[in-house]
Amino acid sequence: MPPVDRVLDLGKRLPDHSSIVPSIRLARYAGGMPFDPRSIPVDPVASAALARHGLEYRLLDPDDHAGMLAWIEAENRGFHHGRPRDVDRDYDLSVASERRVHGVYDPTAAQPETPVATVDAWPTGLSVPGGRSVDAWAVSAVTVSPTHRRRGIARALMEGELANARAAGAAVAMLTATEATIYGRFGFAPAAKAATITVDRRRTHWVGPDAPGRVHFVAASDLREAAPAIARRAVARTPGEIDRWPGILDRALGLVDPDGDGARSIRAVRYDDEHGQAQGFAAYRITREPNQPGFLEFDFLVAATDDAERALWRFLIEQDFVTGVRARLRSVDEPLPWLLEDPRAVSVTDVDDHLWVRILDPIEALRARRYGTSGTLVLDVSDVLGHARGRFRLTVDDRGRAEVEPVEGTDAAGPGLRLGIQELGAIYLGGVRPSLLARAARITETAPRTLVLADRMFASERTPHLSIWF
Ligand SMILES: CC(C)(COP(=O)(O)OP(=O)(O)OC[C@H]1O[C@@H](n2cnc3c(N)ncnc32)[C@H](O)[C@@H]1OP(=O)(O)O)[C@@H](O)C(=O)NCCC(=O)NCCS
Repeated sequence: MPPVDRVLDLGKRLPDHSSIVPSIRLARYAGGMPFDPRSIPVDPVASAALARHGLEYRLLDPDDHAGMLAWIEAENRGFHHGRPRDVDRDYDLSVASERRVHGVYDPTAAQPETPVATVDAWPTGLSVPGGRSVDAWAVSAVTVSPTHRRRGIARALMEGELANARAAGAAVAMLTATEATIYGRFGFAPAAKAATITVDRRRTHWVGPDAPGRVHFVAASDLREAAPAIARRAVARTPGEIDRWPGILDRALGLVDPDGDGARSIRAVRYDDEHGQAQGFAAYRITREPNQPGFLEFDFLVAATDDAERALWRFLIEQDFVTGVRARLRSVDEPLPWLLEDPRAVSVTDVDDHLWVRILDPIEALRARRYGTSGTLVLDVSDVLGHARGRFRLTVDDRGRAEVEPVEGTDAAGPGLRLGIQELGAIYLGGVRPSLLARAARITETAPRTLVLADRMFASERTPHLSIWF
């Protein structure tokens, strides 16, 4: 569970509704038009590294239908998924058309048109403390064929993506990981967790307040219009959440394959506040054996206000003829136990290091967020890959706003922290205290009591959380 003495500096807290700052730098690249992630040239270093193994590193054209379909096959195989159906291919094609998609090809393989490795990436906002957003580069679909593993292909792809992220002007790169042992070597660190919440229905007696609005059943297709705006506001209030791509809501609402078995059991509800404004929604399904009570599961509860969050939780856990409720990818810091007479009705399991963050530009990244208290720290950052190496003075004013400048020599004097790029990524969103990493001998304070200040400065008013896989 998160530290109980997380700094709650109400004077500096930004309103829940403060909107995410758009990805200004990324948008500027194309003269104010949305940035096209394919406009960056193919990274020559990754290309040369792969060529040394007789492999070709290719940036895919979304209009190359056959090439994209072969890439989608390879990506599904890489993640040990079944062969995609037509509806899945159509969905994957539409998602990939918004991204920068690379494949690695082996001209000597029996199927040379099918890539032996895949990766995709796109520029997007990452929510940071203070209801703000930083320009980030999301990396996904990293697979290497089992016929070509452990010869440095993933390394070439990842180093290529870090170069692409820098070329796009992103201050951080980020991903969700299948295994926790892969990405640390590239400077990524776990920064926002997710957990499974299970609720024992028989023990749920709600003692929290009633929300002033109403929960309505709605057709999933009717949520299409309201959902993106609600999701945007929900994302803005939680550090660690990323901007949604078009299509992810369609998938959650069962609209990608509405007649599929999974989708047919999805029910959708929306919470409207006392003024009739839509402030939240959830998509859930109940599974049950004949003559047995059901079990309710959901992966999607999106709330732009605390009222909406409470009302939707209450709706979901107070179903009759249901024995339990399970929700995946929830925060490790849900208010739910505090809303029930018996907090032990709620179990938090499968706590996962969900979002991995890699800081590429410490000045931009540290400037983007707000801080828990004022103060000055010199951060001496090491980075084997060189992107973020250096000393930076972080000066935070009494409104939680930061100025960050590179410093050298005697200018770099003053209390601070010595830390690696992974440690900076871990503390960045406020989910891990600097003092905890000091206890693990991963951060060193350069003057006594600096860690006390650093803990207070890096604290976030809300526990970081990411509620999707990407
Ligand atoms: C994970 C995966 C992409 C690695 O590909 P790869 O080309 O074999 O990796 P590389 O040869 O480039 O290895 C790079 C480094 O990572 C290490 N590594 C690779 N896979 C690893 C794993 N699963 N666990 C621990 N370390 C791993 C290598 O030992 C190597 O270390 P080094 O550079 O410090 O010597 C590949 O195994 C794969 O496709 N797995 C299935 C899909 C998946 O899990 N993708 C990750 C999505 S988040």
